[in-house]
Amino acid sequence: MFTWGVATSAYQIEGAAFEDGRAPSIWDTFTRVPGAIINGDNGDIACDHYHRYEEDLDLMNWLGVNAYRFSISWPRVIPNGVGSINQKGIDFYDRLIDGALERGIEPWPTLYHWDLPQALQDRGGWMVRESVDWFAEYAHAMAERFSDRVKNWMTINEPFCSAWLGHLSGVMAPGIKNLEKAVAASHHLLLGHGKAILAIKDVKESTKVGVVLNFTPAVPASDSQEDRVAAQLADGFDNRWFADPIFKASYPKDIVEAFDIDVPIVGNDLSIISTPTDFLGMNFYFRQTVAFDEKSTPLKYRQVTPSAERTFMGWEIHAPTLTELLMRFSSEYQPNEIFITENGSAWDDQLIDGKVEDKNRVSYLERHLEALFVAKAKGAPVNGYFAWSLLDNFEWAYGYGKRFGLVYVDYPTQKRIPKSSAHYYRERIKEN
Ligand code: FCB
Repeated sequence: MFTWGVATSAYQIEGAAFEDGRAPSIWDTFTRVPGAIINGDNGDIACDHYHRYEEDLDLMNWLGVNAYRFSISWPRVIPNGVGSINQKGIDFYDRLIDGALERGIEPWPTLYHWDLPQALQDRGGWMVRESVDWFAEYAHAMAERFSDRVKNWMTINEPFCSAWLGHLSGVMAPGIKNLEKAVAASHHLLLGHGKAILAIKDVKESTKVGVVLNFTPAVPASDSQEDRVAAQLADGFDNRWFADPIFKASYPKDIVEAFDIDVPIVGNDLSIISTPTDFLGMNFYFRQTVAFDEKSTPLKYRQVTPSAERTFMGWEIHAPTLTELLMRFSSEYQPNEIFITENGSAWDDQLIDGKVEDKNRVSYLERHLEALFVAKAKGAPVNGYFAWSLLDNFEWAYGYGKRFGLVYVDYPTQKRIPKSSAHYYRERIKEN
């Protein structure tokens, strides 16, 4: 059976940031940094999903999805990151998981969608090696509580963003700008993923575990040799740095050399990182065009923006890239199974007479689903699709201004209004 789902993440929708024993995460801290988030927005209330999850599960039921990808908020269930469990936090995810199952929807939790407990950041966060054991301990505790009902776990969402955007460009929490620290964080995130697989399987061997990687294929701005090398570097930095260790037990040589920094590998780290996964979660949004740039650091290229069809994020829309990516990944890395764990688009949605006619989002969705099924017909082992996102939500550094939902959220009233794209997705699932 094909998996039809929707995806969300804890910090982006839950709200209830200071309720029932939840402690701050690095995003609670980062959203207080002046200028870090457009409009000074934060996730204190978000979509109030913590209180409205029943209504949101009903929406999923109406859509007809058979799977829900959400994330567990680490500081809600283990406020200090390690040690004592907050039972009220566990109770929330118990209710959510049971509520999904009652509606015939499989729960697909992600353990880490960027909201590290601040208590652990204060001890060095992902930059220090201890983070690997903190994460494995958390994974084990969650598997013990939920693996009686959860069949599919995802360890880490987009280590690219946590490592590079959180520790190199600093546009995301924890807002650090240091290549050496970013490389260390990337290695510990990957190692944490490997150890989390072992921890989950230790609780229940038959549980399926995967990782979620975002892929941004790169095309050269011109045919010049320099631009072609630039595209290879961009591919290495964005894609291969994370996929190679997991699927090939090595870091890409060209990028290691270009960084000229030692990756803090100890002993058999790479064999732990490459512990076999049951599936790959692939997030795909857009492709990038890059040009050689002598002055750029740490790699000599920059992104350029040729005129093209683009979303409200400025991201190029190019659905055939998804087919190519699925084909390339299948042959180069040979995952057992692939699920598109995120794909979607932001638009300047307008609520008019109680309706949101988001033709652009429908078209984006239609084209990407088609691209997926082309790859599947050609033999890519892709068995599911999760639309990002069920609801409009807190889009990280962009705040609430960028709407990705199939369902419109009127923030002042928290009213949910299915957009045209929700109706389209519902029909598309039925057809199948
Ligand atoms: C991905 C994130 C997700 C959401 C989308 C638009 O990088 O995983 O939380 O913000 O982008």
